[in-house]
Amino acid sequence: MRTLNDSMYNSYKCWLQTSLPEEGILKTINPLLPKEGYRIRQLNNHISIEGGSNAGLIYGTFALHRRLAAGHDIDCEGAPRIARRVINHWDNPDGSIERGYAGKSIFFKNGELNYSIEQVNDYARLLASIGINEITINNVNVSAEGAKLLTDMLPDVKKIADIFRPWNIRISLAINFESPVLLDGMPTADPLDPNVRLWWEKRVEEIYSMIPDFSGFLVKADSEFIGGPVAHGRTEADGANMLARILAPFGGVVYWRCFIYDCLQDWRDSTIDRPKAAYEIFMPQDGLFEPNVILQIKNGPCDFQVREPNSPLLGALKKTNRALELQITQEYTGQQIDLYYLGTQWEEVFSFPVDDKLVLRDLMGKKINCIVGISNIGNDENWTGNILAQANLYAFGRLAWDPSLTAGEILKEWIPMTFGGNTEVIEKIYEILMRSRETYEKYTTPMGLGWMVNVHSHYGPSPEGYEYSKWGTYHRANYKAIGIDRTSKGTKFTLQYHPSLTAMFDDINKCPEKLLLFFHRLNYSHVMKNGKTLLQHYYDLHFEGVEDVEEFIEIWKSLEPHLPKKAYDNVLERLKLQLKNAIEWRDVLNTYFYRFTGIPDAKGRKIYE
Ligand code: GCU
Repeated sequence: MRTLNDSMYNSYKCWLQTSLPEEGILKTINPLLPKEGYRIRQLNNHISIEGGSNAGLIYGTFALHRRLAAGHDIDCEGAPRIARRVINHWDNPDGSIERGYAGKSIFFKNGELNYSIEQVNDYARLLASIGINEITINNVNVSAEGAKLLTDMLPDVKKIADIFRPWNIRISLAINFESPVLLDGMPTADPLDPNVRLWWEKRVEEIYSMIPDFSGFLVKADSEFIGGPVAHGRTEADGANMLARILAPFGGVVYWRCFIYDCLQDWRDSTIDRPKAAYEIFMPQDGLFEPNVILQIKNGPCDFQVREPNSPLLGALKKTNRALELQITQEYTGQQIDLYYLGTQWEEVFSFPVDDKLVLRDLMGKKINCIVGISNIGNDENWTGNILAQANLYAFGRLAWDPSLTAGEILKEWIPMTFGGNTEVIEKIYEILMRSRETYEKYTTPMGLGWMVNVHSHYGPSPEGYEYSKWGTYHRANYKAIGIDRTSKGTKFTLQYHPSLTAMFDDINKCPEKLLLFFHRLNYSHVMKNGKTLLQHYYDLHFEGVEDVEEFIEIWKSLEPHLPKKAYDNVLERLKLQLKNAIEWRDVLNTYFYRFTGIPDAKGRKIYE
């Protein structure tokens, strides 16, 4: 009998590098299981994996691998809770990646699909190992060059689809709604124009003749200077439905993004409040979308900040399919330099109330049967730049499979699979990753304020970087107060939630303090539950954030003897950069408020004049 001893375990050690265990394993299809489900049993002389289909066998094999590494019992069953588990790449044809922090695209180079089959296959396996079953390979901001994926580059898209298929991963493409104009010089892209419809029909027929399991189109329209149906006097539903009706006979879908707001706002105009936009646009159209349209909604109503409430649209839509969009790449969350385990944040997103009974997790796999993550990988040797950022991709996949998993449970799988079974290593990496998000929040923009980042790069502090700009992301700090009143007496954003939530967020005593400055405009003298003034609390958090990072560095250094040198150096180098960043945030922001208020730190710590 094959025993599952250390050496077998070691051969499974790294979830990114291992080959699938095959020896001593009997795999059979059991049609009684869910299609993507599996069952694993340890029998006398072998391990049996049954799968509802080949996909189930793939997932079962990886589940075995995971359980061995985490030291869990082998016997188990599993099936995904959410049907569509999608990764979106924001990769551009020139090989750059929008908001990418791990090197260049693994798909594109010099304006074309130019890739290593081996690397893409490794990536497909990696995604399969965490249960992903769909990938969009190109950026939602589709340039004229990117639009050619529908035409000139289509044969190469087919080749990529062929690599992903054996791993149960279907391919989809982000499209530019103006493609008929961009690619063929048509006079319009009006979705109700019969010639435009005909043009899309031809494209879709061609795609399915080459890629029969093509999943569909992802569309960013009428958003951030990209055209869409509204520019033609039509509605979002008109645009999405035109494409959906063409895709439907082939089994394709349209992912229609809801990230639409006025990006030419006048900062003087306080009647517009950016987080309200998506709800205002899409709620009146609830029920007007074809059944194969999926509205893709970012978790927060602003834009992937360190802490936001959930988008009210996620719970409010009743008659339209939805996808929850999460950002795995760390755009506003440290750019894979600063340590930031997103699992803890996403656990909160799932636990966020929808009404007085349900939380978002209760809708997942039911009313919301699709989850999308913006990829954090590139061609860096370790895929994610910072090796610890792999935990975010892993957590995304695991939560997409089972949203009831906790952030901590997921880490307890990932750490031993990546770094082996040394208890000290596991415990210490667990500690710094579990604390990492709150640490980042402390030294950047706590209490739900967000932004204050350097313009464009979105890394490092610039308290007024976006304050007088067109993007609608204001904090309106002055000598006395900060924040925007988004209650029913202010911009009325809170009215977009279920009444029980409106009441909670409106009431300064019931509003979670971590979101206080998202919902309220407060004087610096406001007294927090811990008895400190808002300003002192703010100063304290900024000092603590830096101390946390210093502590992380010490913890990491103590692991040096137990870690592979490359991984150790990689993280240490980034932690040192993080410390610089944290100090910069602390000093810039503390000074910013000190200059406004003239109120020194109660503990007499250094705040620059
Ligand atoms: C953010 C991000 C952009 C991205 C956009 C989107 O605003 O900064 O780079 O294109 O989100 O989600 O479409």
